[in-house]
Amino acid sequence: METHKIYIAPSILSADLLQLKMQVEMLTENGADFIHVDVMDGHFVPNLTFGPNMVKALKRITSLPLDVHLMISNPDLYIEDYVRAGADILTVHEEACTHLHRTIQSIHQQGIKAGVSLNPATSLSTIENVLDDIDLLLIMTVNPGFGGQKFIPQGLKKIAEARKMINASGRDILLEVDGGVDSSTVESIVQHGARVLVSGSAIFGQKDIVAAMQTLKSLGEKTLS
Ligand code: DX5
Ligand code: ZN
Repeated sequence: METHKIYIAPSILSADLLQLKMQVEMLTENGADFIHVDVMDGHFVPNLTFGPNMVKALKRITSLPLDVHLMISNPDLYIEDYVRAGADILTVHEEACTHLHRTIQSIHQQGIKAGVSLNPATSLSTIENVLDDIDLLLIMTVNPGFGGQKFIPQGLKKIAEARKMINASGRDILLEVDGGVDSSTVESIVQHGARVLVSGSAIFGQKDIVAAMQTLKSLGEKTLS
């Protein structure tokens, strides 16, 4: 992965489930870089969404890496299921892991990339000691659970600090931002150092989802250049 590129990860949380295949295929063919799958358990977050079956189904219709965001308690119990279903990146929440280092290790042992996500209230210092072990850092800029929420601007400072930490580590860690990414926030998100943009409602809430995705990506790219 290159830090001078912008990657876009449409979140199917906001997709039209009856048109999911068509929508994912359209985005795959027109410049998406990942497909972001929000897994919610009604416990870690107050909402329920998809399980491994969704990952398995998506694997059959897209060649893009599946970026699976686990918003669940006890993620260790389900790692194997998601790997078997076809996840390419498995991201767990720091707040949901008692032994975060062990969880990251088990994801790696199963041969895929490991990410860690931080809620808006969680400090970056909580992941300092695992920075050498992760492939992706996901900064939440809304409280996880729902699409279409308002971007929390305090997240920008955290993105900038995370960028500094990643650069200082010298490691190739993707810095991803999730929550309220739209055409009004994307520029400052990229300016502060994020390179992977998750977007749900700003893409799937538009009539032309391909144009909406491309606009976000090119706004991000323009900011970088
Ligand atoms: C929120 C999810 C997000 C969600 C983002 O808990 O993790 O991935 O889809 O939705 P938007 O882009 O609408 O804020
Ligand atoms: Zn997400």
